[in-house]
Amino acid sequence: MKPQRHFMLTHAITADPAFEFAAEVRAGLTKPGQKELPSKYLYDDVGSALFEVISVLPEYGLTRADERLLRRNASDIVDRLPVPVMVAELGSGSGKKTRWILEALCRRQHTSYCPIEISPKALAMCARELGDIDSISIVGFEREYLDGLLEVAARRCPGQHLLVLFLGSTIGNFDRPAGLKFLRQVRGILQAGDSLLLGTDLEKPIHRLIDAYDDSVGVTAAFNLNLLARINRELDADFDLHEFEHVAHFNGEARSVEMHLRSKREQTVTIYKGGFSTALLEGETIWTESSHKYSPEEMFQIAQNAGFRCQEQWIDEEWPFAENLLIAE
Ligand code: AVI
Repeated sequence: MKPQRHFMLTHAITADPAFEFAAEVRAGLTKPGQKELPSKYLYDDVGSALFEVISVLPEYGLTRADERLLRRNASDIVDRLPVPVMVAELGSGSGKKTRWILEALCRRQHTSYCPIEISPKALAMCARELGDIDSISIVGFEREYLDGLLEVAARRCPGQHLLVLFLGSTIGNFDRPAGLKFLRQVRGILQAGDSLLLGTDLEKPIHRLIDAYDDSVGVTAAFNLNLLARINRELDADFDLHEFEHVAHFNGEARSVEMHLRSKREQTVTIYKGGFSTALLEGETIWTESSHKYSPEEMFQIAQNAGFRCQEQWIDEEWPFAENLLIAE
């Protein structure tokens, strides 16, 4: 095991998460029209492990493109940042792709790194992965993104700049208006001159996108179906997973890949801990996730609308993906 230095964890102060989960499942499955479930619930322990597998699938180039860009351009990115800088990462995951940036920063100064995650397991994994970097202090925040960022910002020393990392195109899982609102909220916590490194997956031929979200091995299908399995496990529901199938399609208007779970027959499902039942028609779907794709040019406009300036963009040619360096204005 790698040595761990200077790791602290700030635990969550939460309402009852099972209660919140039940309420959101109920709202999504009983709403008129398109049924839906929030994509954040895809990531329990099983879902997170399946996502790690997705990220190494040949069809899914997104994670490798993100890592490649960060590895190849870490020094260039860091050279554009003021000194001293403190780093906050929204949704650190395993922390693997962040290593390149942190190593480049730690070569010039001692660096405080604050991963913000709702999963304590992911925070522990991140500390294990990155704890061996010289001149680093890691303080993990078991929080929702904005709550965590507020706390990190409050801890900065006078004159210290903040670099926020929001990698892996997680922004793409928000719809466009919600993504813009979120970036504005991030900007509201920052000071002028602070930076946001934002990873965004770019538009590419539709067949490449569909293959990425409906892979030949069926890992993405398992990732999607696990959401129903999770509801069975945690909310005592009776979804029969054999009676649902994974579907991925491109929504041209929204410019997003949508994942759905399609009911193979007419059926009624009961979520006992939610205190409700829901009826599904044959062919009816539950919408579980959208993954929006961007053009390189629109990132400049989005940045400006959110109160930033896009200072630089690095693009991967193999799997079109961009790292955008945004400066708070
Ligand atoms: C985490 N997020 C950026 C992934 C994506 O591509 O939207 C989640 C994912 N869903 C299916 N495959 C990967």
